[in-house]
Amino acid sequence: MNQSEIERVEQYDRDHIIHPNYHRADHEGAIVYASGKGAVLTDIRGNQYIDGLSSLWNVAVGHGRAELGAAAAEQMSTLGASNAYTGYANIPSIKLTERLLSLVYSNMSGVYYANSGSEANDFAMKAARYYWYINGNPDKVKVISRTEAYHGGTMAATAITGMAPFHKGFGPEPPEFIQVSTCYPYRCEACGSTGSCKADCADVIAAAIEREGADTVAAVIAEPVHGAGGVIPPCDGYWPRLREICDRYGVLLIADEVITGFGRTGKWFALDHWGVHPDIMTFAKAVTSAYVPLSGFIMSKDVHGAIMDGSADAKFMIGCTNSAHPTACAVALRNLQIFDDEDLVARADAMGRKLQVGLGRLIEMPNVGNVRGLGLMAAVEVVADKATKRSYAPAEGISGKLVKALRERGVVTRAKGESILFAPPLVITDAQLDTIVNATGDAIEAVVRGTNAP
Ligand SMILES: Cc1ncc(COP(=O)(O)O)c(C=O)c1O
Repeated sequence: MNQSEIERVEQYDRDHIIHPNYHRADHEGAIVYASGKGAVLTDIRGNQYIDGLSSLWNVAVGHGRAELGAAAAEQMSTLGASNAYTGYANIPSIKLTERLLSLVYSNMSGVYYANSGSEANDFAMKAARYYWYINGNPDKVKVISRTEAYHGGTMAATAITGMAPFHKGFGPEPPEFIQVSTCYPYRCEACGSTGSCKADCADVIAAAIEREGADTVAAVIAEPVHGAGGVIPPCDGYWPRLREICDRYGVLLIADEVITGFGRTGKWFALDHWGVHPDIMTFAKAVTSAYVPLSGFIMSKDVHGAIMDGSADAKFMIGCTNSAHPTACAVALRNLQIFDDEDLVARADAMGRKLQVGLGRLIEMPNVGNVRGLGLMAAVEVVADKATKRSYAPAEGISGKLVKALRERGVVTRAKGESILFAPPLVITDAQLDTIVNATGDAIEAVVRGTNAP
């Protein structure tokens, strides 16, 4: 592309495309990507960046995978699309289901496919309601979620999302969605981060169920590790306690593994870190490494049984035109083959440890308050005052400045508040990880000291 064509397409984008989480000023100077290889992205101006967030936590096998293109082309020229509504099926989705059920928690036996993480969460919540309906508890409809959660952009997924900016201007939201505080060890109100953690922060969920009445609550939904909310791994006792609370009150536990699924945390699925089985888990993103959209929810034998045994006058009526889409499923199968061939889950574990150690050294910096993560997802939280953990005032725009400073140093990623977030492709190299760590230290130094010169 010559210079005037580059400028024309950049301008056309700015003038006509409304991007997710949009504000016009934030889109000034947007990067227009042209190609990618492994963990590196190249824009239309020829600049290269390390993809610090695997696009949006999803390009697990890295960019430029011709194998995935070939799998899509082969399926498209055989059976590119076909409806998988009741009465019809296709081979790739059957094979993918076999594969998924061999990988996920051992209590699971059924899969429903959709297109996006938001839909998967919406549908999972509908499945939870349906489960209780079929089991003679039609009043169990409420869903409890947590602050800092990100569960998606549809109306119900927004209602369970726990970050204020996603709600402004879109209300009123559907009722029956209740939000409670999350487990945020660095800023924990229950134990004051004193080191005497007993996972008491989970008790807010028990309290909410009691307050609302267990006979009105269908499910608790939570990400095993918060992603967009700041990469916040919970304390070790949290998920076992959540499981125990849900069992105690007869409430389904939904794990949103849209980010944490498929190796991101160093295990195939994140709740394996704590030996917990959810009743329903949602997935999307890395199932296809995002080369084509695919998502869904996987359910326990119990929830599956309720749908299998549902009465003829209350069928499981959740439509989805592209459910079990053959091309998407064929790409997912090929993608998971790459995981096997390149041992990517073990690699995520090993490279994740390296990332945590590398970023962990930044804690020595005067304004780095917290470095946290699990596997190949991590956050570095910058604070105005380390002793009091005081954050910068939003007006300081620190998060935008940090992201910009990193970009100037060849790393693209996102920030939440003052936390810089990382989730590079599972194929990232040692040298690229070192670049991320060094660029992060330099960027923080430059932004915090006001010497923003790369
Ligand atoms: C944990 C989690 N759940 C759900 C979603 C929504 O997925 P989608 O954007 O595909 O609708 C996201 C998106 O980032 C996510 O991070």
